[in-house]
Amino acid sequence: MASTGTADAHSEANGAASVDGVRRRDFIEIAAVSAAGVGGLAAIYPLVSQMAPSADVLAESSTELDISSLEEGQSIKAVFRKQPVFVRHLTPDEIKQANDVDIDSLRDPQTLQERTEDGHHNILVVMGVCTHLGCVPLGAAEGENKGEFGGYFCPCHGSHYDTAARIRKGPAPKNLQVPTYEFTTDTTIVIG
Ligand code: FES
Repeated sequence: MASTGTADAHSEANGAASVDGVRRRDFIEIAAVSAAGVGGLAAIYPLVSQMAPSADVLAESSTELDISSLEEGQSIKAVFRKQPVFVRHLTPDEIKQANDVDIDSLRDPQTLQERTEDGHHNILVVMGVCTHLGCVPLGAAEGENKGEFGGYFCPCHGSHYDTAARIRKGPAPKNLQVPTYEFTTDTTIVIG
């Protein structure tokens, strides 16, 4: 009995030590992982925080335009991501001029249809940024020089864009860029 008692006591002592040992190790490991986790989070958070767009940038990531009062022949200038955007309501004559051009003769071949939305081929939306060196072309405001092809004219080095805002003459290599946009109603455009 004494031996059993001793054995039990020894076993209990071993068991207690073992249980305590495991618990201590677990605690130390868990504490170490937690500390590493907290340190990791603390180190990562400022990076994530810096990478996230600020509220004002998010607000500018799209531009909504009401074009219900934009009549044939009129243009409006808007701003998208701090750059000018031209929206023109083309007249039937401007559409005909654009469609009459031999596409193969163009420096940057694109049809008016490709540069406008289905169902709205009379509404031309382009960035107001010359593709030569980035000046803002003329032609969107009433009375401005529209250039030799009736679209837009960049006075910086003399680039002429046609009624589909395609480059026709001068040093600019590409057509005025069409931004990503969609009609959310018949008279509302969301750019971006
Ligand atoms: S920037 Fe427009 S022609 Fe040079």
